[in-house]
Amino acid sequence: MQKNDYFCRVKIGKIMDSFLELCRHRRSIRRYSSQPVEREKIDYMLRCALMSPSGKRRNPWEFVVVTDTDKIRAMAPCKEYGSGMFETAMAAIVIAVDSAIADTWQCDGAISAEHLLLAAEEQGLGACWCHIYGREEAENLIREITGIPANLHVLCVISFGYKDEERKNYDLDKLLYNKVHYERY
Ligand SMILES: Cc1cc2nc3c(=O)[nH]c(=O)nc-3n(C[C@H](O)[C@H](O)[C@H](O)COP(=O)(O)O)c2cc1C
Repeated sequence: MQKNDYFCRVKIGKIMDSFLELCRHRRSIRRYSSQPVEREKIDYMLRCALMSPSGKRRNPWEFVVVTDTDKIRAMAPCKEYGSGMFETAMAAIVIAVDSAIADTWQCDGAISAEHLLLAAEEQGLGACWCHIYGREEAENLIREITGIPANLHVLCVISFGYKDEERKNYDLDKLLYNKVHYERY
C-alpha cells in the first residue's frame, strides 16, 4: 500500500446509505467464493483500520496481510472449533498487538478489528473475526505461519472474501433494547 495512493477506493456493488444500514447488513461470514479480493479493497480496509481510535493514540497494533491461500488454509486447524472460515477465505489480516505500548491494547486491537469488519462489508465483502488470544495452540500456529514475534500478542485474525453464504440482516425491531439504560442502570 502506497501512502499517496489515496484515491484508490473502488466502486462497491451496494451503496450503504447510512452507518445504521452498514451495521444492519454486517454479519459474520464464514464461507467465501474463490474470487480473489482486489488489492484496492484490502488497502481500503487497512486505511480504515489505521484510522481506528486507540488509547492515548499509542497505536499498539500491527497488521499482517495474508493473501497466499496455502498459508490461509494452514490456519484452518488452529482451533478445534471456530476457525473453519480459513478453509475458503481468500484473504486474512492478522492483528498483533504490543501490550508494552498501551494498557488499552486489547480494546485498541478490537476496535481496529471492527473497522476491518465494517470496511469489508462496505466493500461488498464478507468477513469474520477468529479469536486467537489466549488460545495457545492457535497463537503458536499463527505465529509460525506469519512470523509474528513473541513480544506481540496475536489478538485475532480477520478472514474475508466474497460471500458464499447468505446471512439475515439485523432486524431493527428485534435489537436488544433492554440492554440500554437511561441515566441510571
Ligand atoms: C471477540 C470476538 C471473538 C470471535 N471469535 C470468533 C471465532 O473464533 N470464530 C468464529 O467463527 N466467530 C467468532 N466471532 C464472531 C461471532 O461469533 C459473531 O460476531 C457473533 O455470533 C454475532 O454474529 P454476527 O457477527 O453475524 O452479528 C467472534 C466475534 C468477536 C467479537
